[in-house]
Amino acid sequence: MIKEISVKSLKPGMYIEDMCTSWVNHPFVTKKKLIKSAAEIELIKKYGIMTVKINVERGIDVAESIDDLDASKIASGISKSPASTEGKAGAAGSPSEETPAKSAILLSAMPVPASDPVPLGREMENVKAVYNDTLKNIRSFIEQTQKQVPLNFEEVSENVDELIKSVYRNRSAAATLIKLKAYDEYTYTHSVNVCVLSLTLGRTLGLSKAALKHLGMGAIFHDLGKVAIPGHILNKPGRLTEEEFEVMKMHPVLTTKLLKNSNQLSSHSLECALSHHEKYGGLGYPQGLKGDQIPLLARIVSLADVYDALTSDRVYRAGMPLHAAVKIMYGNREDHFDPDLLGSFIKCVGVYPIASMVKLNTGEVGLVVDINPEKLLKPQVLILFDSNQKPVSKKEVLNLAKERVVLGGRSRSIVDIDVPEKWGINPADYL
Ligand SMILES: [Fe+2]
Repeated sequence: MIKEISVKSLKPGMYIEDMCTSWVNHPFVTKKKLIKSAAEIELIKKYGIMTVKINVERGIDVAESIDDLDASKIASGISKSPASTEGKAGAAGSPSEETPAKSAILLSAMPVPASDPVPLGREMENVKAVYNDTLKNIRSFIEQTQKQVPLNFEEVSENVDELIKSVYRNRSAAATLIKLKAYDEYTYTHSVNVCVLSLTLGRTLGLSKAALKHLGMGAIFHDLGKVAIPGHILNKPGRLTEEEFEVMKMHPVLTTKLLKNSNQLSSHSLECALSHHEKYGGLGYPQGLKGDQIPLLARIVSLADVYDALTSDRVYRAGMPLHAAVKIMYGNREDHFDPDLLGSFIKCVGVYPIASMVKLNTGEVGLVVDINPEKLLKPQVLILFDSNQKPVSKKEVLNLAKERVVLGGRSRSIVDIDVPEKWGINPADYL
């Protein structure tokens, strides 16, 4: 029997049937392998692999597989461990350029209202132009960096200001927009998407606008140092050797140097770049920081970076469905991510993310059009197919959190999740 498990559950004696990643991204000759030592497991972790498929007939078994992590387990895990950055970060205050970087000073008592002033659909329309303009400007910024001409941060900085305004108008709109359409050119879209997702989480955490600016600027430039990685490594079609991977791992330090030389970014923004590949369990790079040693803003960027990387289409593979990425990240809480922050992130994007298709216990199928952060298992669903799975004539939004209709003694609830493409649905037509 084949089981998909979190890498943190790997033990010597297990037989890996599939590394769950392109062969380019793992260190072994084949994707099948009997694990013989803890060192091999550490190597797999170093490559950032989060899950593998094991064959329990050819090696030892594990207690819990990723498939056992159903939505209710994730939701109850999050409600048991509510995000509490304030407790960790200490007193609130104003950010300061001169003050040594401390997560503590970045939090503020900014209230996060229960509802957003602008509806999701309208803000998605508003933010579309900002997103496209940011993409254009980040592309020309990266080209400037490659040509080693003096960098002009002004336009991108103005874009980040506009994105901050957008997450204040509606906290889900920009993050939903970036996942509705497959944009080309991963390098540029990834930079902007990581910025959008970081700001979305920062907004939900109640960070001040000044702190969001540090976060947004750090996030949008987090991988800039990749321009200094030799092209034959950065664009290598095959697997990186260990030596090449060591070179690739220099990019956070290179980014920090580039940005520091420009003298345009705050120390808080620089920390995002330097520490976005640190892991909560201490196995990240470049410094091997652990837990709360990793600056808060860098922990936020790290979550956004992995979520976007997992869910974006690449040349060699299609992006993963949003809910599958949530599941994998949840399976790697504590090893990779601050579990409290991950809980808040999942509250932002949802256990059933906006633009997922869900099947209800009635047989009806619909599109998730909004989430209820306090009731993650009960989003708002636009019903598109009836209980016989025929298209409905009158489309209706059900807020499952307020669903009172009792059907045979039960209220409506979600029993399965799917991707819209399988139903011939383009979510952009409905959101
Ligand atoms: Fe990176």
